[in-house]
Amino acid sequence: MQNFITLEQIDSAAHAIKNRISIQPVVGIILGSGLNGLADSVENAVRISYSDLPNFPVSTVQGHAGRFVIGELEGKPVLVMQGRIHYYEGYTMGEVTLPVRVMQRMGIPNLFVTNAAGGVHPDFEPGDVMLITDQLNLMGMSGLNPLMGPNLDEIGTRFPDMSRPYDSEYCDIARMVAKENGLTLRQGVYAGLSGPSFESPADLRFLRLAGTDAVGMSTVPEVIIARHGNMRVLGLSGISNKANLDGSTLTTHEEVMEAGKVITPKVEKIIRGVLHSL
Ligand code: HPA
Repeated sequence: MQNFITLEQIDSAAHAIKNRISIQPVVGIILGSGLNGLADSVENAVRISYSDLPNFPVSTVQGHAGRFVIGELEGKPVLVMQGRIHYYEGYTMGEVTLPVRVMQRMGIPNLFVTNAAGGVHPDFEPGDVMLITDQLNLMGMSGLNPLMGPNLDEIGTRFPDMSRPYDSEYCDIARMVAKENGLTLRQGVYAGLSGPSFESPADLRFLRLAGTDAVGMSTVPEVIIARHGNMRVLGLSGISNKANLDGSTLTTHEEVMEAGKVITPKVEKIIRGVLHSL
């Protein structure tokens, strides 16, 4: 049998973080590609590199710093992941989602997750922000569910419900915050693929038929693990490029990073607004 992450491994990383901080974070925030800037706004920050933690994977992608930033945002204690771990980097699903498990063992009840995504909905434009209202677990449907392996009964049940992956109250607050700030907030379904190749036009037409509004290479496994442990989840996609359903344009990582500059301030406004309401 494959090696799966154990409770002992999770707890050793959780203890290593707890030993270095004096606050109890109430929200874990995962920053997507090009959206790392938000971590610089954290006040009284303690920074811990993933490489300083036992059993911890390190992010290898440009635009992902690879550290936790723990401090305050809007006066609320937060633990920010500046840089996430992706399946396409060669890590196991257990490693990809280990940070969320660590948050759970640290007693953090909320997860705010962000990502860069391709806009599959025809109306979406680069620079838009989409509130994730539901997700398509394409990786899981093809056998890569992060809950495979022995169940961690201390955290959640073997067969967790997924009828509401994204918290409806947090969705309402995010919509209200966007309105108050004059921001257009798109909403829709995020499809998670493994990457790292972008989608072909046929992939994208298939995804659109299946109800996809935005597509990316992350988030879905983290949210499944979060819900297994009953965390409340808010999800935001920054639309970095228009998905290329007819094959007429190219998609590049540079484009994704560039769009992040426009998207970061909008995502920050919404996250601050939701944090403020907690
Ligand atoms: N496809 C998949 N992942 C992405 C994209 C995309 O078009 N843009 C940013 N992340």
